[in-house]
Amino acid sequence: MGGRISPSIMCADFRNLETTIRALERARVDYLHVDIMDGSFVPNFTLGPDFMNSVREMTDIPFDIHLMINRPEDFLPIFTIRPGDIVTVHQEATIHLQRTLQRIRDTGAKVSVALNPATPIYTLDDILDDIDIVLIMTVNPGFAGQKLVPATLGKIQKLKQYLQQSGHSHIEIEVDGNVSCENAQKMRLAGADIFVAGTSSIFKKDQDLYELTEKFREYIT
Ligand code: DX5
Ligand code: ZN
Repeated sequence: MGGRISPSIMCADFRNLETTIRALERARVDYLHVDIMDGSFVPNFTLGPDFMNSVREMTDIPFDIHLMINRPEDFLPIFTIRPGDIVTVHQEATIHLQRTLQRIRDTGAKVSVALNPATPIYTLDDILDDIDIVLIMTVNPGFAGQKLVPATLGKIQKLKQYLQQSGHSHIEIEVDGNVSCENAQKMRLAGADIFVAGTSSIFKKDQDLYELTEKFREYIT
């Protein structure tokens, strides 16, 4: 299977959201990546449950919900989660990670854990049976338009080997942050499966979203 595309909706032009969604549907993207920030886990605010509900009324594309919030277990009930969505929580954001993952599992969504650039892979040792996806942050979370943290490329490769050697090769690898066409190609070679496409690749001022998305796909097949 080729790499999958998850466009970061926080990078969209909100004045033309409907047009954006239709272009992404036409380009057959796999998910819509929805960044939720709380001004505490990360120094920024972005989208929330009301916004998500509005987008749900426009499209059936599954959501890839990236919770950059502290104590995500307290807030899961306020989100409309559907089977087939991905829900990601950060390893760093809760002291009850396993319980939180179980709660996501109960919703029928795919269960995903994100690691900040400074968080080691071995912190996943005891929860590998509870997850479907590991999201490697390739920038520090909080803002679009940042530069890749170079060490994260090697981290993707290391994670791929780690999953294979521990008998968990079914777990998929997602990458988020400065996933440009060139970086995506390297990340694909390193073992990434799902690619968050933002301002570095498909959301560029005065350029055609559909065409950039089709072009991006060529780098991750
Ligand atoms: C944060 C976001 C950003 C961003 C990705 O989790 O998901 O990483 O929107 O887009 P870039 O880095 O290409 O601007
Ligand atoms: Zn994200």
